[in-house]
Amino acid sequence: MPTLGAALLFAGCGGCGSNPEHPPNLTFPARADRLALKLPDKPAPGPNTAGKRDEEIAALDALGGLTVAPPAVEGLDAFLKSAFGTPAAPEELAPALKLTKAHLAEGSKLYKRHCLDCHNLTGDGRGLKSGQFIVPFPRDYRQGAFKFVTSGEGLKPRRADLIRTLHDGLKGTAMPAFALLQEGERDLLAGYVVYLSVRGQVEFESMRAQIEGRPNDPAARKAAIVAEWEKAEAAPPLPAEPNDGEPGTPAFEAAVRRGHALFTAKADNSCVSCHGDYGRKPVYRYDVWGTVAKPANFVEPQFRGGTRPEDVFARIRFGIPAVGMPAHGPPKYTDRDAWDLVRFVTAAPYPAKLPPDVRAAVYPNP
Ligand code: HEC
Ligand code: HEC
Repeated sequence: MPTLGAALLFAGCGGCGSNPEHPPNLTFPARADRLALKLPDKPAPGPNTAGKRDEEIAALDALGGLTVAPPAVEGLDAFLKSAFGTPAAPEELAPALKLTKAHLAEGSKLYKRHCLDCHNLTGDGRGLKSGQFIVPFPRDYRQGAFKFVTSGEGLKPRRADLIRTLHDGLKGTAMPAFALLQEGERDLLAGYVVYLSVRGQVEFESMRAQIEGRPNDPAARKAAIVAEWEKAEAAPPLPAEPNDGEPGTPAFEAAVRRGHALFTAKADNSCVSCHGDYGRKPVYRYDVWGTVAKPANFVEPQFRGGTRPEDVFARIRFGIPAVGMPAHGPPKYTDRDAWDLVRFVTAAPYPAKLPPDVRAAVYPNP
């Protein structure tokens, strides 16, 4: 009888989590959701609604945007299958980026266990479990756009940026911190995110070219996108942080004052034009996915991409192009200007860290 018992045990446990592999015959489905090709130029009325991502994207047309159902592109399915393989057997993408068959196959298993519920099989962010019920929506990797990069304005993230996002999570969103995984596991997961992103971006750009009547060569497109990821990896490090001393010292207070003046300056595209009343009155915006982004609130001590000075410096210096937040760099802004803005926005949630004049401006009714 023990043999039969063991057999029943195995039968009962098929696919219940002990075996994290994808079935070998599972393929990536073709994109079925609409492409957001033009965003309305008005501010968005408010945040997205959980479970309504595709309805809300389709509704952009009535607001002056343009969304299009995915067109059939001749040869695209066959190209994606041969160039990228399947979830259980991904094809090699770029050995220099550690995107080999072996790395990706391991990354795929980890992704299935830890990420699938939210980010879904193709990385479209429409996971069938938690993914449906979360705002902000889980990231759709298929446009190749990421928010939290240290590489440069408009560049892909470095591998280290994705690994940091995984280690720390994104505060104030449902994206969890995967700090308990091994560093090597986070590295494999980051690699698999790159793979899904390249695959999704080739599909997206090919469909867009077809809609716009432009010629399309998916193999050339794939090579160009991989080259963008390589470029991000080779980007120079961030400039070293200046030493402005501790809160309360003259050097620190001078930096906060300069940052506050830049923050509130009356200029086109100034910080306050989106982060109204220091973020208490945010102007909601459409992002490149056709969903809604909410400018951060600086009287709350929480940034999604981290509160270390270098994290905040990278956001300000390079902007967050996916949500339309402009970069603040040369020739108009020096690195020193960006550090001054960092000093102000990281001190702003803590009245005691602000010099009295700035405190009175940020907290007029204490
Ligand atoms: C409970 C849901 C959930 C799970 C599970 C989850 N994520 Fe996320 N993830 C999110 C949400 C929500 C966002 C978007 C936050 C935002 O828009 O700022 C996100 C964003 C991201 C981003 C984008 C970062 C950027 O710079 O734009 C990456 C990369 C990412 N997740 C990777 C992963 C990986 C890899 C896993 C599995 C190890 C995972 N996530 C598991 C919800 C989840
Ligand atoms: C065109 C609108 C716009 C302008 C101008 C703008 N921002 Fe933003 N900012 C945003 C949006 C939208 C977000 C939210 C990003 C997201 O969805 O995670 C944001 C987020 C941020 C964050 C938080 C990032 C994080 O990790 O959560 C910081 C810091 C920031 N902005 C600083 C600034 C500063 C400083 C200025 C002026 C120099 C500025 N912003 C100008 C729209 C803008």
